[in-house]
Amino acid sequence: MTDPDLTRHYDAYPYPARDPRDEDKRLLEGSPSHLAELIHHLFAGVWPKARPFRALVAGGGTGDGLVMLAQHCADAGLAAEITYLDLSAAARAVAEARIARRRLTGVRFSTGSLTDLATLAPGPYDYIDCCGVLHHLDDPPAGLRALAAQLAPDGGLGLMVYAPEGRTGVYPLQSALRRLAGPELPDAERVRLARALVGSLPAGNWFRRNPFLGDHQQSDAGLYDLLLHARDRAYTVADLAELVDGAGLAIAGWVPPVRYDPAVLITDAKLKARAQRLDPLAAASLAEELLGSHKTHVVYAVPKARGDTVARPAPDQVPVLREIDGKALAAGFKPGQAITLDLGGHKAKAPLPDLSGAIFALIDGQRSLGAIAQALAVARPNQDPIRLSAQVTELARVLIRFGKLHLARIS
Ligand SMILES: C[S@@+](CC[C@H](N)C(=O)[O-])C[C@H]1O[C@@H](n2cnc3c(N)ncnc32)[C@H](O)[C@@H]1O
Repeated sequence: MTDPDLTRHYDAYPYPARDPRDEDKRLLEGSPSHLAELIHHLFAGVWPKARPFRALVAGGGTGDGLVMLAQHCADAGLAAEITYLDLSAAARAVAEARIARRRLTGVRFSTGSLTDLATLAPGPYDYIDCCGVLHHLDDPPAGLRALAAQLAPDGGLGLMVYAPEGRTGVYPLQSALRRLAGPELPDAERVRLARALVGSLPAGNWFRRNPFLGDHQQSDAGLYDLLLHARDRAYTVADLAELVDGAGLAIAGWVPPVRYDPAVLITDAKLKARAQRLDPLAAASLAEELLGSHKTHVVYAVPKARGDTVARPAPDQVPVLREIDGKALAAGFKPGQAITLDLGGHKAKAPLPDLSGAIFALIDGQRSLGAIAQALAVARPNQDPIRLSAQVTELARVLIRFGKLHLARIS
């Protein structure tokens, strides 16, 4: 399949299907490219406000990652220069309309292939988003190398690729549809036939039995992308690590970390101890093998020479909550309460420190962990300040693991 075919696909069905008017009602947030999350993973938790943030969204589609990143930068008062690139002019038109609807500035739009990045939109970039694109390329390693070549030496990438386990049943059905509703038919007819086939699959068919797939029910664009795509492949944890390594990059973090932690999937003590002896990559592979619901993998990656770039709890780090209501938790927290996360058929659970309610009340996206520990100690003069500080650190650790807290200071 050549890029003109891909362009035709995404011009006919810009993905994901979005109406720019919805920008008045909500901001879609996700991973990668959540600003606090990428600062946590790629910049050790700190981005200097005075430094312009140069970002590229490669294969930006209808703009989900672009809009989130541009909005987050605007909200943080960060001077951002964001470049959007996509093969599809139709997808770009939707992304442009969404940015305009939000009156966001500092975004430059370009149409073409990321493999021509060096001429179309050369870097250096501090950050490159490439979400759901590499697995559609004719030569994904060459695509990732083209991105890495435009990265600043102290920059990083946020990547998403398909994963095989959660897509069980997709590839046989794609193959069946190539036989029954191939590209010789008009697109609308292919979509109609695909819906008819999906609606009448035998009970034992793995696509029918797979509870993790719903894109085909959302829109024609979703169905086309999932089932009629002429070129997509899925990456295991090990495949993705190899792809990243081949581009001279190292994985800084898997998102969220708990999704790649076999400890939350194993109860037997001996098995748990054996799992704990695995190196981080083998442990992530084990989690993928056991969980069975990974449809995608999201990672942050950096040039190998950068070494460790991930923020760790420390007194000067600023915690930022994500997708949880700190105020409600502050008001209603009961000692012994745990955090849970649905990993797709399995609920991961971890206990929270007893003083979490009081700590939640102090997390405001501005105060540092040190300042929070200090405020806690002032309110509890009879308690050991070291123990109080340890509770702050422990809460941050657990929430980071569950993807509900990032360490991100923009100053
Ligand atoms: C599945 S969509 C993902 C869109 C967006 N990144 C998101 O996550 O919502 C894939 C997008 O990649 C674009 N694309 C595919 N190959 C490309 C290439 N070689 N260069 C630039 N864009 C490409 C397609 O046109 C399409 O808009």
